[in-house]
Amino acid sequence: MSESVSVHPVPPRLQNGSEVPYIGPNIEAYKKAHAESIGPNADKWWGKMARETLHWDIPFHTVKSGGFEHGDVSWFPDGYVNASYNCVDRWAHRTPDKTAIIYEGDEPGQHLEISYSQLLREVSRVANVLKSWGVQPGDTVSIYLPMTWQSVAAFLACARIGAVHAVVFAGFSSESLRDRVNDCKSRVVITSDEGRRGGKTVNIKKIVDAALQDCPGVEHVLVLQRTGGEVSWTAGRDKWWHEETAKVSNFCPHALLPAEHPLFILYTSGSTGKPKGIVHTTGGYLLNAALTLKYVFDVHENDRFGCMADMGWITGHTYIVYGPLANGIATTVFESTPVYPTPARFWDVIDTHKLTHFYTAPTAVRLLRRHGEHWVEKADLSTLRVIGSVGEPINPEAWHWLNDHVGRKQAAIVDTFFQTETGTIVVAPFPGAIECKPGAATVPFLGMEAALLDPVTGKELEGNDVEGVLAFKGSWPSIARTVWQDHNRWLDAYLKPYPGYYFTGDGAHRDQDGYIWIKGRVDDVINVSGHRLSTSEIESALILHDGVAEAAVIGANDEITGQSVHAFVTLKPDFEHNGEAGLVKELAVQVRATIGPFATPKKIYLVPDLPKTRSGKIMRRIMRKVVAGEADQLGDLSTLADPSIVEVIKDKVAAAH
Ligand code: PRX
Repeated sequence: MSESVSVHPVPPRLQNGSEVPYIGPNIEAYKKAHAESIGPNADKWWGKMARETLHWDIPFHTVKSGGFEHGDVSWFPDGYVNASYNCVDRWAHRTPDKTAIIYEGDEPGQHLEISYSQLLREVSRVANVLKSWGVQPGDTVSIYLPMTWQSVAAFLACARIGAVHAVVFAGFSSESLRDRVNDCKSRVVITSDEGRRGGKTVNIKKIVDAALQDCPGVEHVLVLQRTGGEVSWTAGRDKWWHEETAKVSNFCPHALLPAEHPLFILYTSGSTGKPKGIVHTTGGYLLNAALTLKYVFDVHENDRFGCMADMGWITGHTYIVYGPLANGIATTVFESTPVYPTPARFWDVIDTHKLTHFYTAPTAVRLLRRHGEHWVEKADLSTLRVIGSVGEPINPEAWHWLNDHVGRKQAAIVDTFFQTETGTIVVAPFPGAIECKPGAATVPFLGMEAALLDPVTGKELEGNDVEGVLAFKGSWPSIARTVWQDHNRWLDAYLKPYPGYYFTGDGAHRDQDGYIWIKGRVDDVINVSGHRLSTSEIESALILHDGVAEAAVIGANDEITGQSVHAFVTLKPDFEHNGEAGLVKELAVQVRATIGPFATPKKIYLVPDLPKTRSGKIMRRIMRKVVAGEADQLGDLSTLADPSIVEVIKDKVAAAH
């Protein structure tokens, strides 16, 4: 494969632009910086970075304690640091009028810039409201908000007083929200009346109200007025954001918090049913959020960063909120979609706000590419220095499209690999130092040691041109510490599979030049438009339907969304229905209602049985091959209990395409 790969030198804007890259001009500079940051030098290097990057209320003396072996990783354990102070106060004191947030509303022309001093006041007011409701350090606060600039204030208000935010992406259904609020036992929920996205109104409060019917522990709901639409109201529980914040002081002192104090919980899907509440801590997470933004995107003081993800995912947490603000630069909160009102929207946003950085997912690039170049041609994109991609492997076509039409061969493209669990980018190119290969996530970040392991023996694969599972040796500050109230689940999923390593769940290839290529998940996790879904979670949702006996879900390649969900369903023998089409619709609705619209299967096939081994194990491999059009490569079917089912599945799939 590598023979046909194109190699792209450091682009002009990173070679002779107005800013000199922190790491450059070539890979030797990266290699030197990386070598100085790992092995015996690691603690010294991390200690120096932590002192230079963050303000410590009480300085740390110990850089790191514990490790993967006992699952007791901690960073800067005797230091005290506040994320809200670091992201807001530092800059509000030095440069009060500097833009902190560029808010681009759903309708074009509806935008605002929020300065650091304004942000400090809003964060303080919300923090004071939370305090007045008795929120204490360590309490969780659930956040279910659309993409408004006040959402950033909600995150930072929690961080200011040591409350642990648990943000739920506002595309999740009320049932998913209910389960998460109950799992982390929040007494307080922050939400809005409605949201606006792509010209449509989203009934946010209605979803929250439905969820909270089964959340007896919730005492207070703070409701941001985003649209002014009519909403139902529970007296005593629901309070308007603008009314409550008007009652309290504009300043709230930040809490003194140990570096290991939990900053947030973010739920994500694993290979088993129940979502995991991944826990990140304050000092380590914030340090890496700041450093990865600085080095991978090469940001400088006056840059204007535009991450188009939703704040409800890890990309939004780290690269809309904490990373940019910890560096004191401007960050963008984009409320709309890439195609509203036209497929020129992203490019208009970059042009209007003179963004220097643009960060999105391959699925959006593929979609825009399909709409054609003419949408991007008219925009002035000359301010862009670095363009980032995240969430799934970027195919070379999409990479080249970004490079040719968005960067116009002047800007760098960084394919960044990370996960909810890693907190921040762990593999990416360094734009001022490294020649890029389209589709390669490239090299480990500073202070991090990536390893490819033989999946069976767990032995580390040395040298280049090897393929295995991707793992990391030794910890780094932003690695998650645990699964909320289920430490064993953390150990079992990530630290025990390969002792001494953190296991990512992804396969990877290291090519002859030492570049890392991510190959995708090796477990039952699928990735649809950068949304991470567990096949068993979708199967559980389908089984909730009265008629369903069994369900098997697989991921299939999809030109736009990367992967798509295909579900095979068997019905209970005595179940009666009024036709397949109606039932398939009902099943799709079942998944939307249980998880959220983004998990809806693209295809649902009603089949008399699933392919199973004689011992009853469902053979998803067979369904995967049939859907992929590789039915001629099914391999050995002799272990199947009923091989004739394969023909039925082939016919069903063929009929559906
Ligand atoms: O499979 C990898 C894929 O997304 C997974 C992590 O999903 P999540 O925790 O939701 O975080 C998504 C945003 C960071 C990974 O295990 N993934 C993420 N980035 C890339 C990627 N796959 C290939 N290339 C990437 N750059």
